[in-house]
Amino acid sequence: MNIAVILAGGVGRRLGNDLPKQFLLLGDKSIIEHSVTQFELNPHIDEIVIVSHEKYIKRMEDFIPINDWKKVKHIIKGGSERYESCWAAIKKYESYPEYNLIFHDAVRPLVSQEIIDQTIFALNKFNAAGVCIPATDTLFVLQDGGEFLAQVPDRTLLRHAQTPQGFKQHTIRKAYEIGLLDPNFTSSDDCGIVHKYLPEEPIYMIPGAKSNIKLTHKEDLFILEKLYQSSINNNFSI
Ligand code: CTP
Repeated sequence: MNIAVILAGGVGRRLGNDLPKQFLLLGDKSIIEHSVTQFELNPHIDEIVIVSHEKYIKRMEDFIPINDWKKVKHIIKGGSERYESCWAAIKKYESYPEYNLIFHDAVRPLVSQEIIDQTIFALNKFNAAGVCIPATDTLFVLQDGGEFLAQVPDRTLLRHAQTPQGFKQHTIRKAYEIGLLDPNFTSSDDCGIVHKYLPEEPIYMIPGAKSNIKLTHKEDLFILEKLYQSSINNNFSI
């Protein structure tokens, strides 16, 4: 069973809108509706769970009949940090260690079918898979305090992480169980949690796409609108 976990428990502090960014419109639908629909349409996805901020669960429920989603089986309450929202979904499936959990940021509405497919197919061979794109800008590592340059890592092996990220339920659960006992646990990324707490576990990397951008700041909305419009005008699927 392939379960899509749509992470929509955040409030979008960096974007600074009253309503969380997943509810902003892209064309005639909200960002979250686009994201969920991409997984609804994927033939390999069996079930979808949306992790929502408690305040917006009713709003999420209303989207189900509007969009005629058949695969959305659960809308669950997230936590105040992203990893707590992931953990809520992992626990929801604790009786199903062999299920594949495919985590996706609700605010990446232009994820392609191909990227979803590749993430799922990778889980036939590996217990963990992530999506990433090459870093185009040179990256600087600053010294402690952030005022001076410390290192310029070789860009050829640097990548920007995207979602989806897929895991066997037993793998991501084990990584979290170990991580949550660590007094210094911090995270914004699930591949990072598996890498840190299950270092022997190979994490397969799938090429992402520039169009799979995450709505983080106001400017990203302009880019998303342009990409979305051009996909409609040129009649190509994202
Ligand atoms: N997310 C979540 N639960 C949280 C925090 C984030 O499910 N407690 C989700 C967001 O809704 C988003 C995705 O994780 O779809 C990526 O997170 P991010 O872009 O950081 O979203 P926000 O936390 O909403 O934004 P910000 O950090 O600016 O507040």
